[in-house]
Amino acid sequence: MLQIQENVSLKNFNTFGVDAKARYFVEISNRDELVELFMDPQWLETDRLVMGGGSNMLLLKDYHGLVIRINIRGIEHRISHEDVFVEAGGGEVWNDLVNYCVTRGYAGLENLSLIPGSVGASPIQNIGAYGVELKDVFQSCCAFEIASRTFKTFSKEDCKFGYRESVFKNELKGQYIIVSVKFHLSLAPHFNLKYGAIEQELANRGITSPTLKDVSQVVSHIRVSKLPDPSTIGNAGSFFKNPVVTVDEFEAVYTKFPDVVHYPAGDGLIKLAAGWLIEQCGWKGKVVGNTGTWKNQALVLVNHGGATGNEVYNFSSQIIDSVYTKFGVRLQREVNIIS
Ligand code: EPU
Repeated sequence: MLQIQENVSLKNFNTFGVDAKARYFVEISNRDELVELFMDPQWLETDRLVMGGGSNMLLLKDYHGLVIRINIRGIEHRISHEDVFVEAGGGEVWNDLVNYCVTRGYAGLENLSLIPGSVGASPIQNIGAYGVELKDVFQSCCAFEIASRTFKTFSKEDCKFGYRESVFKNELKGQYIIVSVKFHLSLAPHFNLKYGAIEQELANRGITSPTLKDVSQVVSHIRVSKLPDPSTIGNAGSFFKNPVVTVDEFEAVYTKFPDVVHYPAGDGLIKLAAGWLIEQCGWKGKVVGNTGTWKNQALVLVNHGGATGNEVYNFSSQIIDSVYTKFGVRLQREVNIIS
């Protein structure tokens, strides 16, 4: 029997550690419970917020509707020759899945070690790190369509993945709840070590032919050294996206700031390192009230304790304004703002 709770604190359910309340709150442990929930027309009409690990959201105030926390568990795998197909419940912790695969020798997720959040959230913004994106290992996902109370399989093409983008953030926003994700992995690793820091750290450890475990450990080490641990300092990873600009826009920045950190982004576009832009504006490591940017990564906004969502949001607006004034580039928030 589903338990709908009232006025539940979300402090421990969002990695920013913002103390906001949900008017209604329900935890979902299996697919049948989703169907059962939406048999009640009240919940079809109420505003909803679906949460996984709560690692990519900023709550500006108490949530007036129903918070649905997805806790659907289970990991299964099937091996066919060198191919491994792993299917995980949407409520699995992302890094538990990575460890499950790394320890069994299933290659593909190792560069995505230690990303906070849940498996079900991973396709929504096509999570990525250290030269690998979810779409590179994604086979399909199963999602619950709220309006019809049916389950539908989405292929990679259906998901329309882009840089921190998918169909679930855009045209299908709010219509589906991801219940499981299937990954196409391999018994034969194709390591992606092109991210400089990975090669450097492997060299520091004297490793010349790395194993999956080595790569996972090195990636975890780099993340820990750069990014704050949400269990001690509230944060939601990168707060902004790295801006993708046209050649003309890039040249306007480059002429004045030839050191600007940038990468090719395909289709003649160029990606700028938002962390660099923010640091150049003097924000790196700044503490402003209860919030600020992280001392080792200016792209990460943190809650030093007791910050409200609005405080963090207003601070992020100050950063956007100052980067725009200096560079003429408008940063976009990557974190979901819940108002
Ligand atoms: N940089 C600075 N100052 C800073 C931060 C970065 O100058 O304070 C410059 C450095 O030159 C650095 C470059 O920016 O070489 C890139 O920085 P980093 O390698 O830390 O990566 P990022 O572009 O800032 C992205 C993802 C991260 C992911 C890392 C590693 C986005 C929005 N963020 O950050 O993802 O872990 O690459 O692949 O694309 C997340 O999405 O939450 C996240 C943490």
